[in-house]
Amino acid sequence: MRIAMIGAGYVGLVSGACFADFGHTVTCVDTHAGKIQALKQGEIPIYEPGLAELVASNVKAERLDFTTSLAEGVADADAVFIAVGTPSRRGDGHADLSYVYQAARDIAGAISRYTVVVTKSTVPVGTGDEVERIIRETRAEAEFAVVSNPEFLREGAAITDFKRPDRIVVGTEDERARQVMTELYRPLFLNQSPLLFTSRRTAELTKYAANAFLATKITFINEIADLCEQVGGNVQDVARGIGLDNRIGSKFLHAGPGYGGSCFPKDTLALMKTAQDYGAPVRIVETVVAVNDQRKRAMARKVTEALGGSVRGKTVGVLGLTFKPNTDDMRDAPSIAIITALQDGGAVIKAHDPEGIEQAKLVLDNVTYVDNPYHAAEGADALVIVTEWDAFRALDLKRIHGMMAQPVVIDLRNIYRPDEMESLGFRYSSIGRRTVADA
Ligand code: UDX
Repeated sequence: MRIAMIGAGYVGLVSGACFADFGHTVTCVDTHAGKIQALKQGEIPIYEPGLAELVASNVKAERLDFTTSLAEGVADADAVFIAVGTPSRRGDGHADLSYVYQAARDIAGAISRYTVVVTKSTVPVGTGDEVERIIRETRAEAEFAVVSNPEFLREGAAITDFKRPDRIVVGTEDERARQVMTELYRPLFLNQSPLLFTSRRTAELTKYAANAFLATKITFINEIADLCEQVGGNVQDVARGIGLDNRIGSKFLHAGPGYGGSCFPKDTLALMKTAQDYGAPVRIVETVVAVNDQRKRAMARKVTEALGGSVRGKTVGVLGLTFKPNTDDMRDAPSIAIITALQDGGAVIKAHDPEGIEQAKLVLDNVTYVDNPYHAAEGADALVIVTEWDAFRALDLKRIHGMMAQPVVIDLRNIYRPDEMESLGFRYSSIGRRTVADA
């Protein structure tokens, strides 16, 4: 099959490269000429494990190419995927759909025969109807169907998530479109991945419901962690104790500094707004959004308390800036709110991240970036673990203890053991676990 992927961002690139790897012929289209030029030369604009190799091998096999010309990419395509950005609109939190609608207008002008137009970007319920209306209005005689096919890719594991998905959700009631989508994903359901056909609106809502549920699960365990700290419990044991119940499941029960990233904050907000607009508010999601926002500031207070109530003039070393490991993505990373609050309190910040420093420089001011974790600890009054990169798990903690001005570690991801930290002489606090000294 021939595929056009509109938008060579995170979702478009990963999906395009994976479809090409299935044997389809894929053209990725992006208006950003510099990006297309770079991709043609094998430079990948994002950090995603395995993506550079996947792109290179499929370009070499002539199944994947890049262009700025939408008309060229779309002309012979059986399916055109819209994978452009849907950022939160400033002010009201609704998803900004202007890129999606512009893509729909451009696609309408470029298709030459029956074409399946697929929204892959996360879009509010009803967007598929609007895309269909725009195409029909722009080209009355066009033959097409609009399908919703949301992605469930995690950054850092996107290729595996694409190739071994828990499920594929396809929203369409058009029989021809159903056949095209079945053909596109054939390698996957031959592999036993369930292909779930629903109505278009149901598919759009399913994506938001999935992300909101996961954000709720994280927020739930975060609040239980706070309670553990008060009553003297251990949140990791609670998570295991509830997670072994199959009805609950053990994933997404890691307590931490609050969720961030390009999806959960934006999608929970958009779902909340849509639900309010339709007069069916999802109150549990409204609460999740508020609790998660407050949590980041609460994490800065935790650091301040560990330093005796004030960080003024103190040096705080930060390990991990990205919203999670194995990405360079800083979008809505908890580190931003935590560092800003500490700076407001008068702290001096030294930070290290294995991949995120370049992106961090764009969103944080007055931070000294260092190229290894030990330099972040050197002379610091406190060391805060914000992102659980594997490289931080096996640090020489004795060496770190010897380098710090004060041996204070605040571990917001529970990567160290309280008893070990205590015996090394650290004043150690973590999430939802009372320290040995407290108990
Ligand atoms: C998420 C969804 O998992 C994916 O299906 C969707 O398509 C896009 O959004 P992603 O944002 O890449 O993917 O990251 P994910 O691994 O889900 O983590 C999101 C945030 O939740 C991170 O800030 C992470 O640190 C946090 N998190 C996750 C926790 O705090 N605890 C957990 O148990 C799991």
